[in-house]
Amino acid sequence: MPPNAPVLMEATRAIGYSIETAVADIVDNSVTANATQVHIMFFPVGNPYVAIMDNGDGMNKDEIKNAMRYGSKNPLDARALGDLGRFGLGLKTASMSQCRRLTVISKKCDEIIGAQWDLDFIESTNDWSLKLLNSDDVADIPHIGQLKENNTGTLVVWQALDRLSLGELNFDQIMGKYMDRVREHLSLVFHRYLSGEQGIKKVEILMNNVRLEPIDPFFIG
Ligand SMILES: Nc1ncnc2c1ncn2[C@@H]1O[C@H](COP(=O)(O)OP(=O)(O)OP(=O)(O)O)[C@@H](O)[C@H]1O
Ligand SMILES: [Mg+2]
Repeated sequence: MPPNAPVLMEATRAIGYSIETAVADIVDNSVTANATQVHIMFFPVGNPYVAIMDNGDGMNKDEIKNAMRYGSKNPLDARALGDLGRFGLGLKTASMSQCRRLTVISKKCDEIIGAQWDLDFIESTNDWSLKLLNSDDVADIPHIGQLKENNTGTLVVWQALDRLSLGELNFDQIMGKYMDRVREHLSLVFHRYLSGEQGIKKVEILMNNVRLEPIDPFFIG
């Protein structure tokens, strides 16, 4: 019996993510995909969104479809050294804990492929209806121009941020607070990658174009 799509998606939205742990799960994937640079963009006005773009290996059509699947890899299978993933769920559960529309666009071998989980669409079809984006849809996604400039890479965009805006009067200001939390969390969690510790490939993380500095938890009182 396959799970009912809207029910499973709504249920997994309640898994205990905060904005900072959700963004960290997306950055995890970028690091695993050998990215050397990750851009996180918070856009608070009009139709607010959060976008996370990397210059990692990227995905082709089959890979992106598999990445969007709930349970894309068996947790019991051996993982490559350096793969930070474990459950085959993070991209979906972390994203949908914050938004109702997750778009993933990836560039690999000069091809750009986009796919989208839109909770309202899933509810209307009552099925696992993953949208594959055409070139017009892709052109409408924020930061697509920047992705095209990279040889390879992946852009994750969260739109319809119902969990973030809930009950907040001044979304603009609250977005600033979220950014502070995300910055601090990532500076700690990824400090070894940010400082390029010996034996670890250095990764640069920028939030709204400001570079994150590593915070070594060992030196926190
Ligand atoms: N930024 C990315 N670049 C390239 N491939 C990616 C990227 N993000 C996700 N993927 C692919 O999609 C798959 C699914 O990602 P997801 O985060 O859902 O699961 P996971 O990382 O395997 O495990 P976990 O649930 O522990 O995060 C990854 O295993 C990877 O193959
Ligand atoms: Mg992951």
